[in-house]
Amino acid sequence: MITTYIDHPLRERNSFHVEEQAARIIEFDAAADLDSIFAEGNAPGKWAVLGGGNNILFTKQYDGTLIHPIGKRIERLNDDSESACVRVDAGVEWDDFVQWCVERDLWGAENLSLIPGSVGAAPVQNIGAYGAEAKDIIHTVHYFDTVQREHLSLSNEECHFGYRDSIFKGELRGRAIITAVDFTLSTVASPSLRYGDVQQQVEERGGATLKNIREAVCSIRQTKLPDTNVLGNAGSFFKNPIVPCTVAEELKAKYENMPIYPTSDEAFRKLAAGWLIDQSGLKGQRMGNVGVHDRQALVLVNHGGATGGEVMALARYVQEQVKEKFGIEIEAEVNIW
Ligand code: EPU
Repeated sequence: MITTYIDHPLRERNSFHVEEQAARIIEFDAAADLDSIFAEGNAPGKWAVLGGGNNILFTKQYDGTLIHPIGKRIERLNDDSESACVRVDAGVEWDDFVQWCVERDLWGAENLSLIPGSVGAAPVQNIGAYGAEAKDIIHTVHYFDTVQREHLSLSNEECHFGYRDSIFKGELRGRAIITAVDFTLSTVASPSLRYGDVQQQVEERGGATLKNIREAVCSIRQTKLPDTNVLGNAGSFFKNPIVPCTVAEELKAKYENMPIYPTSDEAFRKLAAGWLIDQSGLKGQRMGNVGVHDRQALVLVNHGGATGGEVMALARYVQEQVKEKFGIEIEAEVNIW
């Protein structure tokens, strides 16, 4: 089913709740609907995909067509002795999928509990939290190629997943519309508790069951991250910067409490943008209608009535302050439109 909205407000369709509009929004349910939406001679000119709007900052009216998947099917495809393959529509809320897995004793998604957004958005930025990433459980991504007008699939390897990155942010940007994702979940208990806070909270709940891990992760997120229904935000506004080892070591010599994480490349380290912003004295600061969250400095918030431009002005200020104090450039993780 296809539903079209003209000159439609975006306030309830973006988690920052900024007041902007889209010239047109088209909702589609089944992948096959895209054949008619993109039929020859009829295809929208300027378009983009809007999922749950949880990782987007609208800074102006969107003068094209936003394509929004609403399909909500979750289908168990097949099981072998240790795993199950599940196909999930792009329009399913990510956390509903995690809950679905936990209820069926399927392991792999639990550390990613309560991440806001839709399943279709998960592969794009390879969402991650508490030592897990979507790429660890993604088997295949199904998408509609708007140039070839064909329904195609990519294996995990072909998606070129990286830290908050994939082929959908690169080569296939502006071309692919993700319609469904196949996940491989484990039917055998495989807890991943490397992340300190999670381990401790799971133990307090009586051990590493799926339910306990999900509850622990939800509780940690709820204490650190603001509820988007109360305080508009888009989760981490910035990426954690990846810097050469030498830069990380120089900073560590000066700031011995500074967190440093390894990366897949020996020559580079990941720093915590939240720590850098916090240490720049910005945590909890307010600038008109916008501010830096008082419990997690990586999150910028809309205190009410903010425009995208106001959020951007604050983001630039934060970037400048961190650059001035640490010489490090932090990059937005949120998509700016
Ligand atoms: N820190 C501070 N002050 C702050 C925030 C953080 O000192 O205000 C320090 C923490 O104490 C810790 C380090 O910075 O030593 C890292 O902080 P945290 O563990 O809270 O995680 P993060 O690196 O800030 C990343 C993801 C989050 C994810 C968490 C948990 C990115 C950009 N963000 O945040 O993802 O939930 O790890 O795994 O990688 C999101 O992408 O929207 C998101 C929320």
